Amino acid sequence: MPAPVETKTVRGATLHCDPAREECFTVVELHKDLCDYDDMSEISQRQRLHRHMHNEMQTLEIVAAMIADFQDAPWELRMQLARQCWDETRHSAILYRRLRDMGGRKGEFPVMNYEWGVTKLLNSMPARLAVQQRTFEGGEMDLLRQQVGMWSAANDFETAALMDALLADEVQHVRFANRWLKQAARENARTLLQVASGVQLLKMITEALAPEPGEVNAVGVNLTEFTHVEVLTNVDDRKLAEFTDAELAQLLRNEGFSSLVQSTESP
Ligand SMILES: [Fe+2]
Ligand SMILES: [Fe+2]
Repeated sequence: MPAPVETKTVRGATLHCDPAREECFTVVELHKDLCDYDDMSEISQRQRLHRHMHNEMQTLEIVAAMIADFQDAPWELRMQLARQCWDETRHSAILYRRLRDMGGRKGEFPVMNYEWGVTKLLNSMPARLAVQQRTFEGGEMDLLRQQVGMWSAANDFETAALMDALLADEVQHVRFANRWLKQAARENARTLLQVASGVQLLKMITEALAPEPGEVNAVGVNLTEFTHVEVLTNVDDRKLAEFTDAELAQLLRNEGFSSLVQSTESP
């Protein structure tokens, strides 16, 4: 079992305290304090790389904590998590290098440790795999597919190729979590309860921290519009990561494609 957790309260929600950060970083607690731009200007490009680099750092910390906190987990799963740590380290370094190539620097923009704050509260391996790999990294697969197109459209084919390479690794991370969760659920029905409690906690915290209508961030971007930029389900890569047809159908329904889903599901 993990050690007792140190928590903080943000907008009424309990989150785990932030991980240690070098002094160059400004750590904030709400989306409104970030500098996420909604275009592809030079500063926005650097900010996107910086946010992504920090997200990869955070993923490394979350996965390393899974190994440290659940030392009784099956050896093969711990090996998969250790391999993932290596991937996330590489991802952080690749993005840091690209950020510097583009004139940026570590700590240039504020950062937020939302994923860490949620996952470190979860006291079972199934809950952490469901929230971190299946939900956060599953979502990252959708985002990365979109990013390949955005960087290509900005004529930055080098960064577009980096996004495509990172996506290939993310598919592996989501796939091993999906496989392990399915097997664990077959062996022990309690796994599903643990997954459900993890997803429920994520939902509660996400709702508590969600921007209010019309709220703008530190660079004046309207957050309720910004969070609805088109990030659609990356069906092909999610299939590779072994999401089932029923799970993909549910995601597509959530995006307003129910008629399409019904027609493809009918015999
Ligand atoms: Fe990654
Ligand atoms: Fe990953």
